[in-house]
Amino acid sequence: MGNVDVETHAALIDGKLRGIKKDWGIFFTPQWVVDFMVNMIDEDMVNLNELKILEPACGICQFLHGIKNKKNEFFKKATVRKGVEINKEIIDYAKEKKLNDDIKIVYHDYLLWETEERFNIIIGNPPYGIPSMSEHYTIRIDNNTKNKYKRLYETWYGKYNVYGAFIEKSIKLLEEKGQLIFIVPATFMILDEFKKLRKFLSRNGKTEIIYMGPSIFKPEADVTTVVIKFTKSRSENNLLFLYDYYKGNQRLLQKNGNWDGNLIVFSTRFSKKVDEICSFRLGDIYTIRISPRTPEIKHSHDVVRSKTKREDQGFLPILNGRNLKIGKVIYSSITGYWIDSSKKTQLRNFFDKPHIVMGLGFRGDGQVGAAYDYKAYPWMGDVYHLLRKRTLINSRFDLPEEEVVKFLNSDVVRKYVKDVFRDITYHFNITQLKLLPLPTREELRQIKQALR
Ligand SMILES: C[S@@+](CC[C@H](N)C(=O)[O-])C[C@H]1O[C@@H](n2cnc3c(N)ncnc32)[C@H](O)[C@@H]1O
Repeated sequence: MGNVDVETHAALIDGKLRGIKKDWGIFFTPQWVVDFMVNMIDEDMVNLNELKILEPACGICQFLHGIKNKKNEFFKKATVRKGVEINKEIIDYAKEKKLNDDIKIVYHDYLLWETEERFNIIIGNPPYGIPSMSEHYTIRIDNNTKNKYKRLYETWYGKYNVYGAFIEKSIKLLEEKGQLIFIVPATFMILDEFKKLRKFLSRNGKTEIIYMGPSIFKPEADVTTVVIKFTKSRSENNLLFLYDYYKGNQRLLQKNGNWDGNLIVFSTRFSKKVDEICSFRLGDIYTIRISPRTPEIKHSHDVVRSKTKREDQGFLPILNGRNLKIGKVIYSSITGYWIDSSKKTQLRNFFDKPHIVMGLGFRGDGQVGAAYDYKAYPWMGDVYHLLRKRTLINSRFDLPEEEVVKFLNSDVVRKYVKDVFRDITYHFNITQLKLLPLPTREELRQIKQALR
């Protein structure tokens, strides 16, 4: 990479372009990760008659330079070495430092870039973020552009993250047998927003995922990442391999020859044992609902805000996640919002039924925070409500609500969550929650016995 190493460029760009840095989702890939990813390119690729390499969202083209340094014969062989970058200042910087001498950098939004060209290797670190002009989101993209993305990308779904669109676009730009190697957040493995992307991957070739864990981009960014290596192939579709990163190598955890885009989760001997014993999953027994969010509460005509106690006037405090301790609900006003007790069901009809409540965030390492709201209070914010389904199938489920709470808060579930979901997210989402195993009384006895 020229005469200067990546840390120096990072520091220079940090100083020069600080203002725009966050808006564009810019951060640098540690050099050892670049080298590891470059090493994943299949050796036989070098024998192709024509080799075309692309680095989307290239910044200063760390990956193309990585190939030049570590796989020079590939670099020399390539007839096309191209980067696409949306930010003119970074391109100018790369030119000024002569980082693009044997690379062509296209100044364009990659997601709107049109080309007839197809590539054998697409490698890089795309931007991550949910497009929005709101302060709360990490990547600032105007509504007009976002709507264009939505129209163009078949995997776009819900609060989609741009890295998903980068994957889709890149797969479409691959030659048959071409390879995509990206470092991306691990969230596409389990979140609902990526269900179309997972299907798309499973239909179009072979997917290999190497779990890199939560620390690669720290302290700059707090994100759990994976390296995805995707091989476009009509004959190798529905193939999924899951690996751990281990000392510069990949260690196989799972192989699935019939992957149809289902959630991708981990398993251990312990999690398999628990799965084997339990005949039910939380989603079989409960309907899961989330509390009203703050804007809904603020705009409700029935809600009042008050610092003083209002219980004697028939009002109830609206509780939130801070009222929810492991195994216990604190029935006092923390939010400052109140509602006339007779009107609480206008917020949610289940607010008059005692039920299990659970926090969205983990309380420590995989620890779930569940409690039984036996007084049936109104709630807001980051709290899930577990409402018992009354169906024939689950009539065999005989664990009482208080026992379910104890089980959810137990070390068995804490370990299970850690084994199956690792550090993919910091919050529990409904899909994960539905997957938690639930034992009957007899099965709970078996679990305790198996752990003895
Ligand atoms: C996460 S960084 C990755 C940069 C580089 N691959 C690396 O590892 O250093 C994202 C880069 O993508 C660029 N970028 C963001 N959105 C883009 C888009 N829609 N099209 C092209 N480039 C984009 C940013 O300007 C930034 O340089």
